[in-house]
Amino acid sequence: MTVTSVVGLQWGDEAKGKIVDILTDTHQIVVRYQGGNNAGHTVKFDGETYKLSLLPTGILRPGVTAIIGPGVVVNPAALLGELKSLEDRGVKAANRLLVSDRAHVIFPYHMLEEAVLEKSRGDSKIGTTGRGIGMCYRDKAGRGHAIRVGDLYHRDTFAGRLKDIVAFKNTILAALDPAFQPLDAQTILDEYIGLADRLKSNVIDTTAYLHKALKEGRNILFEGAQGSLLDLDHGTFPYVTSSNSSGAGIHNGSGVPARSIDRMIGVVKAYTTRVGGGPFPTELHDATGEHIRQVGREFGTVTGRPRRCGWFDAVASSYGGRISGADVISVMLLDVLDDLDEVCVCEAYEIDGQRVTDFPSHVEELQKAKPIFRKLPGWKQNTTGARKWSDLPPNAQRYVETIGELMDRPVAYVSVGPDREQTIVR
Ligand code: GDP
Ligand code: IMO
Ligand code: MG
Repeated sequence: MTVTSVVGLQWGDEAKGKIVDILTDTHQIVVRYQGGNNAGHTVKFDGETYKLSLLPTGILRPGVTAIIGPGVVVNPAALLGELKSLEDRGVKAANRLLVSDRAHVIFPYHMLEEAVLEKSRGDSKIGTTGRGIGMCYRDKAGRGHAIRVGDLYHRDTFAGRLKDIVAFKNTILAALDPAFQPLDAQTILDEYIGLADRLKSNVIDTTAYLHKALKEGRNILFEGAQGSLLDLDHGTFPYVTSSNSSGAGIHNGSGVPARSIDRMIGVVKAYTTRVGGGPFPTELHDATGEHIRQVGREFGTVTGRPRRCGWFDAVASSYGGRISGADVISVMLLDVLDDLDEVCVCEAYEIDGQRVTDFPSHVEELQKAKPIFRKLPGWKQNTTGARKWSDLPPNAQRYVETIGELMDRPVAYVSVGPDREQTIVR
């Protein structure tokens, strides 16, 4: 039996989906445990490209059971839409998906509330994906206005509670936004009852299912969404997502104890990207940043926004590795740096004249951080055909080794292109 987890150690989009896809070859169950359809995981194989958002990426492998765990927030219409688009492409997915009855449900008012909140923050807006993720988690923590997947099947109680919740939300939204048109509880109820009916055969107690699977010795893979620096408790608050997107989220989001995990794989890009607001010490505002964006096709999967690009930040990524407990790291998108004369790695920050290697806990400290770079020679060679470590040019090897050393973790995988085959296993 092997229990593996794949977690992003930066601000998301580290190419977790690609590593998950590779590992599902040897795992029978794949579990999403946090986040929702704010995630966007792209996978390429056999000349096809798949983009998954709420569905675990592992569902693309025939025979794999995909689980949406208790810690995920579920937009049922988005979920069914994604399932349909896979089925339309010949991926029989619906009968392999299990959704936790404990997971919380996203409603249309969550998106509306998020838009109002973001607008009220002006220039300091978080730059969310607009999917209602944070507002659903807010209702979960607040309890009074939360509805879980299992509640959808207790019709009378659900109908009564939804009526009260919609009345409350209408009052708040009307007070905040003069253009707001009140929502009709009955319309939402009818829609969600229809969606719940379609999902009924997929909904179970996934926690009990996973405990049984552990007992039977099945191989389980936990698929992280977002990244460690977007973690609600440990990330660059408030410029974070609303779930525990570091390794910390696995236990609470799945019901599987952290000690069951045999191998934690931390995923990093060979550089750094970030979508949305918040501090980013190694961000590049020059031609090199634009080069990385174009070569790496750094545009958001979910919102299409250009991703902010910068040099690899070992202070930030090492912190991500420590909070997530990464045993090994996987260095992705190395090929994007192929054409550069020189590559830089941030090994420390200078804050108020001091050299700092601990990642600051306050966003204003991080905003002041000036990166101290280690400069390395580029390799000026196409690496996309490399299939083993010795295929990589010496300067590319040196660059990857430097990342591993600064992060104090062995590099287990190096990725040199989006395809399954473009992966070096060490
Ligand atoms: P995730 O959210 O962490 O799964 O990452 P995304 O899918 O949002 O972003 C990673 C992007 O990089 C996707 O478009 C992948 O197809 C692509 N990709 C993955 N690995 C590599 C690589 O080694 N090189 C290049 N050039 N692209 C890659
Ligand atoms: P994957 O799984 C990168 C960012 C948003 C925003 C912040 C909060 O593809 O790595 P939210 O909608 O979650 O409330 O937005 O988090 N964000 C991501 N950035 N990759 C993601 O997912 C992200 N999911 C959310 O851009 O800054
Ligand atoms: Mg992504």
